[in-house]
Amino acid sequence: MDSARSGTIPELAPDAFLRWRESGAETVDLLAQARRLGPVSAFRIGERPVVLATGPQAVQEVLARCPERYVKRSHRARVLLGDGLLAAAGEQWRRQRRVLQPHFTGRAVHHYEQLMHDCAEETARRWAATAARKTPRRLDADLQHYSLDVIWRAATGRPLDDATHRALRVASDVLAALPALAPANSPQPDLTAQVDEVDAIVEPLIAAARTDPAPGLLRVLFDSADQQPLYTDRLIRDELVTLLTAGYETTATTLGWLFLLLHQHPEQRTWALAAGPAGSPARTEAIRALVSETLRLYPTAWLLPRYAAEDGTLGGHRVLAGTTILICPYLTHRDPDIWPEPDRFLPQRFLDPHRRTPPGAYYPFGIGPRACLGAQFAVREITILLERLLPAFTAAFPDIPGQRFGVTIQPDRELTATITTTT
Ligand code: HEM
Repeated sequence: MDSARSGTIPELAPDAFLRWRESGAETVDLLAQARRLGPVSAFRIGERPVVLATGPQAVQEVLARCPERYVKRSHRARVLLGDGLLAAAGEQWRRQRRVLQPHFTGRAVHHYEQLMHDCAEETARRWAATAARKTPRRLDADLQHYSLDVIWRAATGRPLDDATHRALRVASDVLAALPALAPANSPQPDLTAQVDEVDAIVEPLIAAARTDPAPGLLRVLFDSADQQPLYTDRLIRDELVTLLTAGYETTATTLGWLFLLLHQHPEQRTWALAAGPAGSPARTEAIRALVSETLRLYPTAWLLPRYAAEDGTLGGHRVLAGTTILICPYLTHRDPDIWPEPDRFLPQRFLDPHRRTPPGAYYPFGIGPRACLGAQFAVREITILLERLLPAFTAAFPDIPGQRFGVTIQPDRELTATITTTT
């Protein structure tokens, strides 16, 4: 393998990774192989040399300690996201991040709480109506609507209408059409029509919002464009689409897995609600533990690719410039050396004062300078929805879906559930 001419990086079976992507059943197989071979292993996708790093130290090294050596390359979704934060690089990325970061700190996220409560209330109204009719409900559609409504209101200051929702769903169809990791020479699907459809919604909105005094992230971008020539009209479009896309599917999918896990482990819902009365810090803490454990088992952004910009060593192995490095929270999060009973849903582990998780062992939002901009935003919006729904409803699924590994880890079919009121 080119990346390891010294011959020191242990190799996985050829195509192990591709087989794994195609079938959830291969997961354990790959994990077993990766574990047998150590925290850093290697294989090929087509002709491309790939290093898989799952050990906490190697993860830290790539994402946090040496981000200049292991860089992000052109994002798979660049066709949709343009030069927005997720896909930007170098000095341009640094400047964009400096503009947005202050609006996503823990303190800044408080400003969005009211709109999150409003959206949660709307979801609860829909669920109450369905429970009264006793008809099955598409839970995935509800959770997508909630997540998109929240980020849409935060960005534009307006509630999400149905036509906008339908059009923006196209953005997630674009993402779904992209493979998580394709061989280098595989053709990109032609997504021009879908991207045009997204732009047909977003561009007039940006034009109208210029004169709209409503506060929101768009206003931040306009104001920053006034102060420095960073945000051109095109980049404002790219940033808005990036925030909508990055902040929507990941959150909705996490909520979907969480409701599935609670259906399988109803005692954990009882435990979280018994932790304290509504609105108490103890209940919020227990609900956050449900979220953390869901993100451990299903870190929706499950594959973080990097590219070695120069020769170096990783985990004591030589890695040559040009090698693709894959960081995989899904595998690290299920390593039994770090996580006892790794496949069990045990939220209490996150409240254990004796738990010692080494740096690089838990990173559903990434780590280092390219870590998720919206991590605190996401945890808050998920927690607010759960605080509203869990005491009032249960969701029962007729069957449990498998996992599909695309750009995010998705359930492999629609999530239809029967909602029952509990009060
Ligand atoms: C449960 C929900 C979410 C998960 C699991 C998640 C996960 C991640 C991960 C793992 C990364 C790092 C990718 C890498 O290192 O290659 C990331 C980046 C990012 N996320 Fe999130 N995310 C979530 C929600 C959100 C939300 C709500 C927003 C916006 C409001 C958001 C905006 C972003 C942006 C802009 C980046 C790129 C940051 C940069 O490169 O500087 N995410 N996310």
